[in-house]
Amino acid sequence: MSGLFISFEGPDGAGKTTVLEAVTKTVGAQLGDQLLVTREPGGNQISEAIRDIILNPENTEMDPRTEALLYAAARRQHLTETILPALRQGKVVLCDRYVDSSVAYQGAGRQIGEQAVYDMNTFATNGLLPDLTLYFDVPSEVGIARIKAHRQDDVDRLDQEALAFHKLVRAGYLRLRDAYPERITTVDATQPLNTVIQTATDLVNQAIANR
Ligand SMILES: Nc1ncnc2c1ncn2[C@@H]1O[C@H](COP(=O)(O)OP(=O)(O)OP(=O)(O)O)[C@@H](O)[C@H]1O
Ligand SMILES: [Mg+2]
Repeated sequence: MSGLFISFEGPDGAGKTTVLEAVTKTVGAQLGDQLLVTREPGGNQISEAIRDIILNPENTEMDPRTEALLYAAARRQHLTETILPALRQGKVVLCDRYVDSSVAYQGAGRQIGEQAVYDMNTFATNGLLPDLTLYFDVPSEVGIARIKAHRQDDVDRLDQEALAFHKLVRAGYLRLRDAYPERITTVDATQPLNTVIQTATDLVNQAIANR
């Protein structure tokens, strides 16, 4: 059986991590060790070290292209150490964020060029894109309000950015969705959490059944 690669994408507070946890429980019950759930930087030493540099609040002077290159480097290592071996073993891989996050956050949000960031990530990933991407769509105000309400302790450098930045990010995601309609499926993440979880679970199960 061939592997299956599914990414979860969307702006901050869309519900990716919460939904992924719920999906993992149901899908994991069927697949057992044939399911790998991961997120960048993925727990490997090199990517974690890179991530520490990116998210260190003292690094406020980081150039946007430096940031984009570091994310791509961390992604590369996570891909080669974690994702590719699992896919080669025929596993289903669910990943919290991947290339689209860089296109939306660095390309659109930091305005260094969505195509340039996409192309740089094509080099980093050797062109490996997910078989399916679930894009959790919420207006920026909703996503930010959720983060503020539930995760006051989790304020990293990116969460301190203004609403304007989040709006650019969402616009970037919407352009990606329009550019890659076959890969990217939109989930309306403003719906009640249980509805979003059910929709995402159905889409993942469908992809598993069709692989
Ligand atoms: N559909 C929903 N309705 C209401 N609250 C939600 C919904 N989805 C998620 N939440 C809540 O919003 C908060 C943010 O969710 P979560 O951390 O899963 O988002 P995320 O997309 O992973 O964000 P980030 O990109 O910052 O990691 C959580 O407290 C979660 O319980
Ligand atoms: Mg998350």
